[in-house]
Amino acid sequence: MARPKVFATRVLPKEAEEMLREAADLEVWPDYFRPPKEVLLEKARDCAGFLTTIEDPMDVEVMEAGRGVLRVVANFAVGYNNIDVAAASRLGIAVSNTPNVLEKTTADLAFALIMATARRVVDGDRDVRLGRWSNWHPLGYVGRDIHGATLAIIGLGQIGLEVAKRGLGFDMKVTYHSRTRKPVEEARHGLRWRPDLAAALREADFVSIHTPLTPETRHLMGRKELASMKPTAILVNTSRGPVVDCEALYEAVRDGVIWGAGLDVTEPEPLPPGHPLLTLPNVVVTPHVGSASIQTRTAMAALAARNILACLRGEPMPSCVNGEAAGKPAP
Ligand code: DGY
Repeated sequence: MARPKVFATRVLPKEAEEMLREAADLEVWPDYFRPPKEVLLEKARDCAGFLTTIEDPMDVEVMEAGRGVLRVVANFAVGYNNIDVAAASRLGIAVSNTPNVLEKTTADLAFALIMATARRVVDGDRDVRLGRWSNWHPLGYVGRDIHGATLAIIGLGQIGLEVAKRGLGFDMKVTYHSRTRKPVEEARHGLRWRPDLAAALREADFVSIHTPLTPETRHLMGRKELASMKPTAILVNTSRGPVVDCEALYEAVRDGVIWGAGLDVTEPEPLPPGHPLLTLPNVVVTPHVGSASIQTRTAMAALAARNILACLRGEPMPSCVNGEAAGKPAP
């Protein structure tokens, strides 16, 4: 029987490549940068499985190109806002993501941003390297305390919960804002629910964003929301860049509406050199590395590979986001 063809849009950790090569004809896009749209269209006409990253726009055009051929798109990420899931479902194409393997690693990075921003780790390091630090001074490089502060988690999914746990370990008071109340987590960890976003923002010293990007959460943090925060507060975003209005954020930090920001994700991504946000010393920006540990990236790749192989074998997929499409013949 002919082996199914699988296209991976980036070089993968080798364990995942080996898993795929054992059961499929795997083609890997060798460049560091994403394949152009024409390549996605061409491969969709020919391959049963795609392993994609958050940078690959798996839109309706690509899904239509794969009509009757493409059976599964496995995203190498827990977020899948780069994929038109409705189009995939309509065409019987299964879509999967990588939950349960990256939450702790991403929460570690969110906490690293909280600490780096509050304690001025990055601008201090920069000054030392540039020979700009000359002496200890009572007012030199003073930041903000993390212990005893109030941390508001916006979106209490698995990553948000892991950040909350880290906050509790640092003696923070932790509140959360999410559409649905989580009484079990409240009781287990002593978290306090704030159904009103503005109320959560008003009382927080640190705000950490953990919502997926949807039409409802685009620019969830805009001028008005930033203005509800304390002038001493720090905003951290490790979810998706467009959840925060970066222009409004720049003005808010520049004008002292809030104290600082730690961002692993931005809009656009990457920020172009010279972007106003990069001129502010109390803004720390990392290059979308929430899940970037060797262990976690290896686990994500293996999970994506298992999703593809399960779908192609007609078995239940470990983490399909549109279960109704898996195994359904294309219309
Ligand atoms: C995700 O998993 O959604 C991250 O943003 C990519 O690591």
